[in-house]
Amino acid sequence: MSRPQNDNFLRALLREPVDYTPAWLMRQAGRYLPEYCETRRRAGSFLDLCKNPSLACEVTLQPLARYDLDAAILFSDILTVPDAMGLGLYFAEGEGPKFERPLRDEWEIRDLEAPDPNVHLRYVMDAVAEIRRALNNSVPLIGFSGSPFTLACYMVEGGSSDDFRRVKTMLYDRPDLLHRILEVTTRAVVDYLNAQIESGVQAVMIFDTWGGTLAHRAYREFSLDYMRRIVEGLIKTRDGERIPSIVFTKGGGQWLESIAAIGCDGIGLDWTTDLFDARRRVGDRVALQGNLDPMALFASPEAVAAEAKRVLDSFGGDDGPGGPGGHVFNLGHGISQFTPPDNVSALVEAVRQYSRRV
Ligand code: CP3
Repeated sequence: MSRPQNDNFLRALLREPVDYTPAWLMRQAGRYLPEYCETRRRAGSFLDLCKNPSLACEVTLQPLARYDLDAAILFSDILTVPDAMGLGLYFAEGEGPKFERPLRDEWEIRDLEAPDPNVHLRYVMDAVAEIRRALNNSVPLIGFSGSPFTLACYMVEGGSSDDFRRVKTMLYDRPDLLHRILEVTTRAVVDYLNAQIESGVQAVMIFDTWGGTLAHRAYREFSLDYMRRIVEGLIKTRDGERIPSIVFTKGGGQWLESIAAIGCDGIGLDWTTDLFDARRRVGDRVALQGNLDPMALFASPEAVAAEAKRVLDSFGGDDGPGGPGGHVFNLGHGISQFTPPDNVSALVEAVRQYSRRV
């Protein structure tokens, strides 16, 4: 299996020379696209969409039909893993994700088991295979999972939370129980990402959306150490090609050196970190991905283009610390459902034009 025709994304992650700065957007397939809303309607619900491989394939490709993006990301959700562990995921209208059986009792935590991804998450593997066939080697396909700590937040809280009171109470009162959840979840994530790789994804990303809410010391113990174990357990090459990994801790700007040391190929950055400064700190150890403020997409197309240039300039081109290359353009977090689709065109075009090397 050879590299995709457009492999700028993989090259940037591996810090090889690129034709221009490759771009993709977190949550690029989502509710800001009318065609996504239409497919979701046909599926019945968001979860039905995730569990239907051909519809998941359809929405994965929708943003690529509209915009000149350099990677596709598997359409799914991080919470399918705890769902496969038996917690019963559902989405209450307007309230976000919820679990029917959150982890509250010690016996539930003792009984927790890592699911077999090729059985309980078969629909994800089928979607990966179908998307790879449909992409026909045009651009790479990114697979993903949540970080163990971020998954544990939802599994213990039972849904989204403002203050993470339950999971943090467990962290301080019964760290042994939280470690048990994190250990099982880590095994589940390693198996899940490796199954995605075996099914055809060409890079993987770990979303640590809530690691940045942890106290300084707790971040390493309860989030980073488990992500290190995941990175260590990943299949590194498939059919002779390296499968790069990206770690994204939202709010993790102060821990970049530690994140770079766990062996990942790229670090995702939110918009509060300066790219040049980040590059100075991590040198040539990892590539960087990010980091436009998703709210910038609500300004005029001209302002969007100007902000895109500012992000590219902040990385500093090929002469910056750590040597040439190593930037993947992205947002600093997922795109908002209220984003005007035309502003996304302005963004992607600006990145391409301004960063073209040839
Ligand atoms: O990037 C992509 O296009 C791939 C698909 C993707 C989704 N969720 C689709 C989705 C990815 C990579 C995720 C990751 C995810 N899911 C994270 C980590 C990244 C982040 O945003 O911080 C988290 C924390 C979740 C959990 C989750 N799923 C929440 C909190 C919500 C509700 C939030 C909201 O915007 O309503 C979801 C639902 C969800 N996942 C949607 C999409 C497109 C919207 C569901 C819908 O169509 O109604």
